[in-house]
Amino acid sequence: MIYLDNGATSFPKPKGMTQVMEDCMLHYCGNPGRSGHAMSMKTGEKVYQARKQVAKLFHIEDPGRLLFTKNTTESLNLALFGFLRDGDHVVTTSMEHNSVLRPLKALEERGVRHTIVCGNREGCITAEAIEKAMTDKTRLVVMTGASNVTGTMMPIAEVGRITKEQGIPLLLDGAQCAGSMPLDVKAMGISMLAFPGHKGLLGPLGTGCLYVAPEIELQPLLFGGTGTESRSRLQPADLPEGFEAGTINAPGIIGLGYSAQVVQQVGVAAISYHERQLIRQFDEAIKNINCVDLYGPQPEDKVGISLFNIRKIECEEVADRLNREFGIAVRSGYHCAGLAHRTIGTWDTGAVRLSVGPFTTGKDIKRAIDAVWKISCGKA
Ligand code: ALA
Repeated sequence: MIYLDNGATSFPKPKGMTQVMEDCMLHYCGNPGRSGHAMSMKTGEKVYQARKQVAKLFHIEDPGRLLFTKNTTESLNLALFGFLRDGDHVVTTSMEHNSVLRPLKALEERGVRHTIVCGNREGCITAEAIEKAMTDKTRLVVMTGASNVTGTMMPIAEVGRITKEQGIPLLLDGAQCAGSMPLDVKAMGISMLAFPGHKGLLGPLGTGCLYVAPEIELQPLLFGGTGTESRSRLQPADLPEGFEAGTINAPGIIGLGYSAQVVQQVGVAAISYHERQLIRQFDEAIKNINCVDLYGPQPEDKVGISLFNIRKIECEEVADRLNREFGIAVRSGYHCAGLAHRTIGTWDTGAVRLSVGPFTTGKDIKRAIDAVWKISCGKA
C-alpha cells in the first residue's frame, strides 16, 4: 500500500522503535514511580529519558513541564478545562479541529465565551485579525499551528509576540505541525503546546503531550493515584505526576522517546523541506487536470497536506477507489473540522486529503498523480 494518510497518523514508524518497546515489555516493564524495585525504577528512568528527548525538540527547558497524555485531544481538554474559568473569553479560529471547538462549546456552560476568527478561502488567518478579536476579558488564544484540512501554516510567532505583549497565554494545537515544522516554545511565545506522539514525532498511537509554561496555573483533568503523597485526599499539584494520574503508557512513551530522537537526528527542517517538495510535486501536477479542484495555499505556505476534489465524483468515492484500485491510502470527508471546510468552501462536498510523511517518496507521489488522473478522466 502507498500510505498517504500521515495527517491521521504517521506510517511507517522508524526502524528500531518496536524493538525498544518490545525490550521494555519483555524485560523490565514495572509500573514507573510506584515501587522501589529495579523494574519500576528502570521504567521510570526510561520514561524520564523520553520526556527529555521529546522536550528537546521544542526547546523546552524543564522536561518536567511536559505532560504525557493519550493524544492531542486529551492535551487540549486538559489545557482548556484546566485553565479557563467562569467569565473568561477565548479567541480561536475557524480552522480549528473539533478537539478545540467542541471543548470550547462545552465550556460555554461554565460561563466561558469565545470568538471565532474566520480564515480566508485558503484557510489563512492573520495575526492582526486575532489581535482585533481580543477583549479585556480575553484570557487565552487557542490556535492550530497548521490546519489538518488544508495544511495552512498559521502565523505562530507573530501571534505569540502579540499575546506575550498583552499578557495573554497562547495555547497552540500542534497536531499537524509538531515534528513537521520547527517549533521553539520560548522564542515563539507558546505558553501551552498540545501535540500528538503518533503523527510528526513518528511515535506509537495512544501517545500525546502537553507542555505547560511555568507561568500557567492549571487544574488537572484526571484525579487519582500519582505514586506520591498517597495519604492525602488532595491531588498533588506537582508537574508532571499531579497531571498524569493513573498508570501511564510506559512502553508507548518509551517508543515515542526513541522516535523523537530519530526526528531530532534527521532534523525537523529537513523533514519539513522534504514534505513540502513532495506536496509541490503533487499540487503542480493535479492543478493542471481540468476537473480537479485544489484547495488551500501554495506549497510554501503549508505543511505536507494536499486537499482536492474531482468534480462530479464524491470525495468518499475517490478515496475508496484510490484504496481499492490503486492501493493508495488517503482520508476523505470533513476531517473532524467542519468549520474549516465551511471556511474554504467545501461545506457541501467535503474533500480528499492526501498527506505525506518523512518516508514518502517522489515515486509514491507519481503513482498518486497517475491514479488521480485516471479516475478524473474515467480511465480507471
Ligand atoms: N485529526 C486527525 C486527522 O486530521 C485524525 O485525520
